[in-house]
Amino acid sequence: MTANNYVQFFRETSPYIHAHRGKTFVIAISGEAVLEQNFDSIVHDIALMQSLGVHIVLVHGARPQIDQRLQLAELPTSFREQVRITDAAAMQCVKEAVGSTRFQIESALSMGLPNSPMHGARVRVIGGNFITAKPVGVRDGVDFQRAGEIRRIDRSAIQSQLEGGALVLMSSIGFSPTGEAFNLNYHDVATQTAITLNAEKLILVTEASGILDADNNLIRNLSLPDVGDLKATLKNAGSEESATYCLLSAAYQACRNNVDRVHLVGCSEDGSLLRELFTREGCGTLIMQDHSEVIRAASIDDVGGILDLITPLEQQGILVKRSRELLETEISRFMVVVHPEGMLLGCAALYPIVDSDAGELACVATHAEFHNQGIASRLLKCIEKDATENGLKTLFVLTTQTAHWFREQGFVEATVDTLPAEKQSLYNYQRQSRIFSKQL
Ligand SMILES: CC(C)(COP(=O)(O)OP(=O)(O)OC[C@H]1O[C@@H](n2cnc3c(N)ncnc32)[C@H](O)[C@@H]1OP(=O)(O)O)[C@@H](O)C(=O)NCCC(=O)NCCS
Repeated sequence: MTANNYVQFFRETSPYIHAHRGKTFVIAISGEAVLEQNFDSIVHDIALMQSLGVHIVLVHGARPQIDQRLQLAELPTSFREQVRITDAAAMQCVKEAVGSTRFQIESALSMGLPNSPMHGARVRVIGGNFITAKPVGVRDGVDFQRAGEIRRIDRSAIQSQLEGGALVLMSSIGFSPTGEAFNLNYHDVATQTAITLNAEKLILVTEASGILDADNNLIRNLSLPDVGDLKATLKNAGSEESATYCLLSAAYQACRNNVDRVHLVGCSEDGSLLRELFTREGCGTLIMQDHSEVIRAASIDDVGGILDLITPLEQQGILVKRSRELLETEISRFMVVVHPEGMLLGCAALYPIVDSDAGELACVATHAEFHNQGIASRLLKCIEKDATENGLKTLFVLTTQTAHWFREQGFVEATVDTLPAEKQSLYNYQRQSRIFSKQL
C-alpha cells in the first residue's frame, strides 16, 4: 500500500471508528472457526476493535471440540432439534471441551509480543456465571438430561464489566440455581445476550461467508421479511437442521427483538471482520429490520459528511466552493440521504430566493459508490415536496455539467432574465452555468 493509499484508507475508516465507539457488539464464534488457521488473526482483529472503544462480548461455540472428546471417550452422541442430548458422562466431555476452547481464546487475547498485532493491546478478559440455565427436560418422551436452555442473563453484571473496559468472554454453559451446569447452544447464548444487552450488533462468525443466493452469489443485505421468507423456503425444502437455517433463525430472533443489525461473516478470509465493520462495501451479509436509507433534514453533525461528499466535486469545478463556516451557517437549507449504517450517501440544498415565490436547488450530490440507485431522484422529490409545502412555485438550478440529469428530472432550460431579480444580480457570467427551471 502506498503512503497516499494508506492515508486515504485511514480517513475512509474514521467514520466507522466514530460510529462504533462505545457501542456494544456481541460476537459469536463457532467452534469450527476456533479450529481455523486464521483464528489468531480473528482474535487480533477483535482486540483491535476493543482498543477502538467497542464494547465486546465474545461468545464461543465448541461443537467439533465436544465431538472429538466424546469420540475419544467412545461415548455415543445424538441430537434432537439441533440440541445435543447430554448425559452426565457427555457433560464431563462438554466441560472439558468448552474449558479448553475458552483457554485457547483467552491465550490468543493475552498475546503481547513485540512486532505482533497484539503488541501493547492488553485486553482484560472477564468471564463468570452470567447465565442462569434450566434443563430442556423431557420432550416427546426424550429426556435431554444436561442439555439446557437459558433462563436469564445477568445484564447489569455484564454491562458493568464492559463499562470498566473488559472484554466479556462467554461460553455455552449455564448454571441452574440448584448449582448444576447445563450444556447450551452457543447461538442461543449469543442471541439472548445481544437482546438482553440491547446490543447494536450481533456478529455471527462462521464457516460460510454469509448467505448465498441460488446462483451462489453472496447476498449483501437482507431485511427482516426477507429472512422470514428464506427461512420458510428452507423449512419447506426440509432443511430446518441446516447451518444456514440456524444462522437465519438466530439473526431473525435478534432483529425482531431490537438488535439493530446482525452481520454474518466468514471466518476463513483474513480480515473479514474488519472489512465487514469498517468498510462501506463489507464482505458478509447484513441483516436488519429495515435496510432502506433515510432522507432527512441535515443537522450540524452532518457538516463533516457533506464536506467529504462535496469537496472532490468542488475541486473538479462541478460544484461551487463552500467553506465549512458557510456550510455550518446554511446547514438548515440541506437535506441528506443517510445509509442505515449511518454513512452520508447524498445531499442537496434548497435556498428560497428573496422577494419571489421561487427557490434555488443547489449542491446536489450522491456518493460516487452509490450512483445510479435513484438516490438523487428520491432526494429531489423530497426537496420539491418541501418547497411546495413552503409555498414555492418554481425551482431553479444552475449547472455546468449535469444539464441532462436535470432535464430528465423534468427541468427545462431557462435564461438569465427569467431568474428572480435577486438571483439575476448574483449570476456569475464567468462560470457560464446553464439555468434550468421546474414548475412545482
Ligand atoms: C448527478 C448526480 C447527483 C446523480 O446522482 P444519482 O444518485 O446517481 O442519480 P439517480 O440514481 O437518481 O439517477 C441516475 C441516472 O442519471 C444519469 N446521470 C447521472 N449523472 C448524469 C449527468 N451528468 N448527465 C446525464 N445523466 C446523468 C445516470 O446515467 C442514471 O441514468 P440511467 O439509470 O438511465 O443510467 C450524481 O451523478 C452526482 O453526484 N454528480 C456530481 C455532482 C453534480 O453534478 N451535481 C449537480 C450539480 S448541482
